[in-house]
Amino acid sequence: MIFRRTILAMVALAIFGALAACASPPNLQKQPDATPPVLGAFRGDRPVVTAADWSRRAPLLREALLDAVYGHPPDLGEATVEAREKLTLPGADGMDMEQWTVKLGDGSNRRRFHMLVASPKGAAHAPLIVMELFCSTRNAVKGRPASVFEDAPALPGPCRSHDLDPVLTVVLGKRIGGPDWKQLAQRGYAVALFYPGEVVPDDGVLGPQAIAALSPDTPADRRAGAIAVWADLFSKAYDVLSVDPRFDAGKVVAWGHSRHGKAALLAGALDPRLAAVIAHQSGRGGASLSRSVAGESLTQITRSYGFWFTPAYAKGVPDDLDQHQLIALNAPRPVLLGTGRGDTWSDPAGAFKAAKGADPAYRLLGSPGFNAQGLHDYRPADGVVWWSRPLGHGVTTADWRAFLEFLDTHVK
Ligand code: GCU
Repeated sequence: MIFRRTILAMVALAIFGALAACASPPNLQKQPDATPPVLGAFRGDRPVVTAADWSRRAPLLREALLDAVYGHPPDLGEATVEAREKLTLPGADGMDMEQWTVKLGDGSNRRRFHMLVASPKGAAHAPLIVMELFCSTRNAVKGRPASVFEDAPALPGPCRSHDLDPVLTVVLGKRIGGPDWKQLAQRGYAVALFYPGEVVPDDGVLGPQAIAALSPDTPADRRAGAIAVWADLFSKAYDVLSVDPRFDAGKVVAWGHSRHGKAALLAGALDPRLAAVIAHQSGRGGASLSRSVAGESLTQITRSYGFWFTPAYAKGVPDDLDQHQLIALNAPRPVLLGTGRGDTWSDPAGAFKAAKGADPAYRLLGSPGFNAQGLHDYRPADGVVWWSRPLGHGVTTADWRAFLEFLDTHVK
């Protein structure tokens, strides 16, 4: 039975991968520019001309995006490290590996999540990549060792069976489960990973229940979506990691793929302590414009994953808002937007236009901004870095080459 299900899932994933790879390529000509201009007048606020004007504008945009798209994240309480354990794990040569249990809040409102914290041996003030994972931290280690925590009931189906790992890596890339520990150790990067579904499960029933429990006094139609909470978890991770002298508190990077890429971009927009963001294939509700004409539509995403957002998003965004403003809220801190030209569902052209729309805010704040001239143009020294490769949805070794080049340029 399990074998049959595995074969079926393998076939479905292979078909999905093949379709993604063959889909007609993203088209910049057909894609409208981002509107409104990011520095133009906004809801009675005069146009932004100076950096001081931007510090007046940014909080207005932040509030507007939370109201219309993500909802305001509920208070998760103080983050403290409840337990730390050293682990010896296969494939992690060069890293000191620890498992941290992080507690959020107290009493009946207490929540927990588990982090795998890897620091290059002997590291002091290392740059640190904080990653949210699609599957568990156990899944990020070769052989899925039982010593690494896994919250099985909260996990999406394909993450539960060990048998599917080889298929996931064939279809979604060698690095879909987690990073190459050895490579990161050699390049001097520390990394902390966790599965955000431990706090708000990525599930249409359990997710909304968790959010309702976190915000009992907020009317249902104004509640935050899961992405707002997942974004806040980057900040909670920052709280506990930044006091560890092995890491440089000024060089903490939020990394997310797809749904967690949406969360990573929002995290950067809300928390100026994050030094940079890597948002890979974040798509609708992430880097791609909500008013885009390609890829997953706003109706499709809110039908399938309504609980990721505040309910207002399903009705569309106000004319004066779009995702270029979200990218701009990260300025002048560097952002890498990763895309796959076969991953048309995540709408690379809509992300390209959003990056272009965010560019004036970056330049105003002294960043080189966004200079890519087309989908193939990779310029790692830009402020908003465009990374695009062939093929579909997933995380590959080529993606990591680009991520590390971006980080070497901006953060290291
Ligand atoms: C679905 C969803 C996307 C999302 C993706 C992912 O495809 O429609 O919006 O980005 O899952 O997280 O992998």
